[in-house]
Amino acid sequence: MSNGQEGNGNRAVSPNGAAPQPERRYAQIVGWGCHVPEKVITNKDLEQIVDTSDEWIRSRTGIEQRHVAADPKETTATLAIKAARKALETADVYPRHVDLIICATSSPEHTFPATASIVQDALGAVNAGAFDLSAACSGFVYGLALARGLILAGDAEYVLVIGAETLSRIVDWTDRNTCILFGDGAGAVLVAASNVPGGIQATVLGSDGSGADALSLPAGGSAMPASLETVSNGSHYIKMDGKAVFRFAVRVMADATRRVLEKAGLAVDDVDLVIPHQANKRIIQNSILRQLKIPEEKVFINLQKYGNTSTASIPIALCEAIEAGKVKPGQNIVFVGFGAGLSWAAAAIHWSVPVEKREYGWWRSYQRRASYQAAAARSMWKRALRRVYSQVLPTPDEDEWPETSPVKEPEGSD
Ligand code: UT7
Repeated sequence: MSNGQEGNGNRAVSPNGAAPQPERRYAQIVGWGCHVPEKVITNKDLEQIVDTSDEWIRSRTGIEQRHVAADPKETTATLAIKAARKALETADVYPRHVDLIICATSSPEHTFPATASIVQDALGAVNAGAFDLSAACSGFVYGLALARGLILAGDAEYVLVIGAETLSRIVDWTDRNTCILFGDGAGAVLVAASNVPGGIQATVLGSDGSGADALSLPAGGSAMPASLETVSNGSHYIKMDGKAVFRFAVRVMADATRRVLEKAGLAVDDVDLVIPHQANKRIIQNSILRQLKIPEEKVFINLQKYGNTSTASIPIALCEAIEAGKVKPGQNIVFVGFGAGLSWAAAAIHWSVPVEKREYGWWRSYQRRASYQAAAARSMWKRALRRVYSQVLPTPDEDEWPETSPVKEPEGSD
């Protein structure tokens, strides 16, 4: 941590006890959190909806159940906010210190504004920029690559990277090819500048747009704007050529892992843990296990519980791997994902941060809760002010603009 703020960026430990090197910057994951909706849909439940079976889904994908946002008030942003708050809490960093919020999502609240801006407002991250990142299931790792770049360049101290989805809202529940696969949820990490060696060492990003048709949501964009026809023929739902995506995924998961390890100066044997995109157990087996010969105990899989949560799958798996005691300081960890685009991404991380849960005491929790309430109040106040001004005040002509704006925006202090 270079700015002396609170947080556990400076809890990073040097893996071999070597003295920290103050002159270099590193991008460390110092906070993590996830949230999934309560409602669970099992494979048996799906048997009632489409022509499928628990046996088929388990054997072809490994999925046993998925969580879905059944309450209309639960959206991509609300899931993201909960995951982001947990990540900030783990790191013990206040929202006002965050410089940037990246929300990777394929099911944003709207085409615009960005879901990340809604998250920024709810967190009270008054000093943060915010944008959504569209790289489908690879999006979370794309976000990590950006966060690392900004931190190493000295342009940011804290970047919140979120993967959040409510895919259940864009899935055709009559299409057995897709509805059995996806689930809802969110995961977030806080990436911090640190002078302790380690953290995100290398990233690999890839795209092959010639495969754009293999996995897409055809309607609702400029190529096929929403119309009665697009709605009636179901073009606002996910369309997928499962076999084509499967073949592509098996190839790129192995390739991207090899390339990111090479970039980080590591061999396959140096890897302690792989956290792959949780799409299909057979994809993971055919790529990471068979091609790279990484043993099963070094690969974290939790897709049986959540299905494919797209951008959220890797951060949710990271949280569970930490919870299960699989992540330890000194380890080399690989995140690798693939998705629509077609796209792929991998990150090699030298984990250097303690993972034990720390208790911060009631005062810290109280302060944190109060800051979220203050953020909500500030947001309401600003909305009300804007409404009043837009209804009461005429827009001044150009030469009538005063030196300072008559609309005094409430200060962003908390
Ligand atoms: O984040 C990226 C998201 N996308 C993916 O990861 C998708 C990657 N692809 C896959 O995971 C697999 O291709 C699927 C799970 C989608 C499909 O598995 P598959 O082993 O490739 O099955 P298939 O498409 O070859 O279909 C085999 C049979 C077909 O019947 P016929 O033609 O052999 O009579 C399908 O109609 O299974 C049938 N089938 C089903 N049967 C029961 C397809 N879906 C289902 C289903 N339940 N849900």
